[in-house]
Amino acid sequence: MVQPKTLLIFFLFLSLLLFIETKHNHEEEEEVVNRSMFPDDFIFGVSTSAYQVEGAYLEDGKGLSNWDVFTHLPANTVRGQNGDVADDHYHLYMEDIDKLEYLGVNAYRLSISWSRILPRGRFGEVNPKGVLFYNNIIDNMLLKGIEPFVTINHFDIPQELEDRYGSWLSPQMQEDFVHFAKVCFEKFGDRVKKWVTINEPNIYTQFAYMYGTFSPMRCSLPFGNCSAGNSDLEPLIAAHNMLISHAKAVKLYREQFQPKQGGIVGLVANAFHYEPYTDDIFSYQAVERSYAFNVAWIFDPLIHGDYPPLMRKYVGNDLPKFSKQEKKLLKGSVDFLGVNHYTTFYAIDCFNSDECTLMDNRPNRGFVARAIARDGIPMGDQTGVSGFQVVPHGMEKVLNYFSMRYPNTSIYITENGYCPPNHLEGSEMLHDFKRIEFHKAYLAALANAMRKGAKVKGYFAWSFMDNYEWLKGYNTTFGLYYVDRRTMQRKARLSAKWYKDFIENAEKSSTISTF
Ligand SMILES: *[C@@H]1O[C@H](CO)[C@@H](O)[C@H](O)[C@H]1NC(C)=O
Ligand SMILES: *[C@@H]1O[C@H](CO)[C@@H](O)[C@H](O)[C@H]1NC(C)=O
Ligand SMILES: *[C@@H]1O[C@H](CO)[C@@H](O)[C@H](O)[C@H]1NC(C)=O
Ligand SMILES: *[C@@H]1O[C@H](CO)[C@@H](O)[C@H](O)[C@H]1NC(C)=O
Repeated sequence: MVQPKTLLIFFLFLSLLLFIETKHNHEEEEEVVNRSMFPDDFIFGVSTSAYQVEGAYLEDGKGLSNWDVFTHLPANTVRGQNGDVADDHYHLYMEDIDKLEYLGVNAYRLSISWSRILPRGRFGEVNPKGVLFYNNIIDNMLLKGIEPFVTINHFDIPQELEDRYGSWLSPQMQEDFVHFAKVCFEKFGDRVKKWVTINEPNIYTQFAYMYGTFSPMRCSLPFGNCSAGNSDLEPLIAAHNMLISHAKAVKLYREQFQPKQGGIVGLVANAFHYEPYTDDIFSYQAVERSYAFNVAWIFDPLIHGDYPPLMRKYVGNDLPKFSKQEKKLLKGSVDFLGVNHYTTFYAIDCFNSDECTLMDNRPNRGFVARAIARDGIPMGDQTGVSGFQVVPHGMEKVLNYFSMRYPNTSIYITENGYCPPNHLEGSEMLHDFKRIEFHKAYLAALANAMRKGAKVKGYFAWSFMDNYEWLKGYNTTFGLYYVDRRTMQRKARLSAKWYKDFIENAEKSSTISTF
C-alpha cells in the first residue's frame, strides 16, 4: 500500500514538472510585442461595417439595400439570419462610443450605409435623418478624441441600382458612386480626414459574381449553379467598374475637397499571403500568380495605372481594358493602401498539373488552387472560418510584398482578427485567450515588417464587437466585445481588456495570463 501522503507528494511533484514544462513551451512561443515598438502617431483602432452592426434597416427614411432584399429571401443565409437588427448600433451608438473610449483606440473604422444616405441612389434625394445619424457618431467620437476612418462603400448598395441597371456590372454605377462619394465629402469631410472609397472589390466580386453566394447571386458552372451570370467574366467587369468609380471619386475629392479639407483617401483590398505548396519553380510561380490575380489585380491599377502584366498574359482580352484617360486617372489615385489580412494559403500550380479542379484550371483564377495543409500537416490552428488558419508570419510576408511592389506607399492594416472554431457559451465566451494570442502574434509580425521598412501607419482589429458575419450569421464571432443577441448587451472579452492595456503600453503579462 502506498501512503496517501506519498501519493499526494508525488502528484504535486508531477504537476510542478508539467507546469514548468508548459511554462517553458509557452515562453518559447510567446511573441514579445508592445506599444513602444510602434511610432507614437501610429493608429490603433477597431473596425466594423454598416450592415453588420447598424440594424434599423427600414427606419428614418432608409431605403432597401441589396443585403436587405437578399437576406429576406429564403435559404440565402445561415438559418435565414439577417442584419435587420444586427447589433442595433443605430440606437446604441452612444454606448458603443463609450466602449471605444474605454478601449483607448485613437481611431474607429466604420462604413456608411449608402441606402441610408441616398435611399434611391442618384435617382432620389439625400435622406437628412441618415446624415444626422452619421453626424452624431462622428461628432461624439471626436469629442472623445477618436478619429473617424470612414469606408464609403462596404458591400451594401441601394437595391434600386441593382434593379435599374445591374449595379457594378454597368458603367452607370460609376456615376452613382461618385454622386454618393460627393455627398459624403460634402456632409462629413469637414471632420472626416481618412477615407476609404470601397472595401474589398476582390472579395465582393468573387462572392457576388463568381460563386454567386452574395447578392445579386450571379455565376455559372462549375463555380455555382445560378440562374444567370458568367463566373469567368463578370467578376472582372464588376471590379473594373469599381476601380474606375474609385478613381473618379478621388479625382473629385482632390479637386474640390482635399485642398480645403486636407484629408487622405485610399481603397481597401483583401490580401492573403501564399506559400509555395512544393519546393519547385512551379509552386513559386503559383505564388506569384496568386498575388497577381488576387491582390495586384486591385492595387496595381491604383498605383501603376493598369492591371498586372501576368493577368493580361493569362486572361487576355477577357480582362477589360482601361482607356488612356482612365489609366491616367487611376495611376496614383490613392494616398494609402488599406489591407485586410487574415490568413495564409499554400498555392498549388494548376498550369503544369492536372490535379486541379475545373475551377482552378481557369485563366481568371490564375491556374492556382489553394491548400491549407501539406502532407497532412496544417499550416496553423484552424479558426472559425473554414480555411482560415492562424499563420502570423503571413503578416510580415504580405507586407514585404507590398514594400517591393508598391515602394514608399503608406499602408493601413484595416482588418485583422480571429474567430474561434466553436461557438462558445458562458464564461468561455468571454475568456478568449486564443484571440489575444492571435493579435499578439500578428502584431509582432507587423512590428518585424516595419523594422524592415514596411510603411505601415495603422492597425485595426476586426472587429470592435460580434456582428452579422454576412452569409455566416451571428455565430461567427470576431468581436473584442461579446454581444448578447437577446438583450443586445455588450460585454468586454479579455481581448478587449488586453487591447486596452496594450494600447496604454501597460501590458502586464501577469494580469492577463494566456494559459
Ligand atoms: C517593449 O519592448 C521593447 C523591446 O523588446 C523593450 O525594450 C521595452 O522595454 C518594452 N517596453 C515596455 C513598456 O514593456
Ligand atoms: C442547376 O440547377 C437546376 C435548377 O435548380 C437543376 O435543374 C440542375 O440540375 C442544376 N445543375 C447542376 C449541374 O447542378
Ligand atoms: C516617399 O514618400 C514621401 C511622402 O509621400 C516623399 O516625401 C518621399 O520623397 C518619398 N521617398 C522616396 C524615396 O520616393
Ligand atoms: C449558435 O450556437 C449556439 C450554441 O452553440 C446554438 O445553440 C445555436 O443554434 C447556434 N446558432 C446558429 C445559427 O448556428
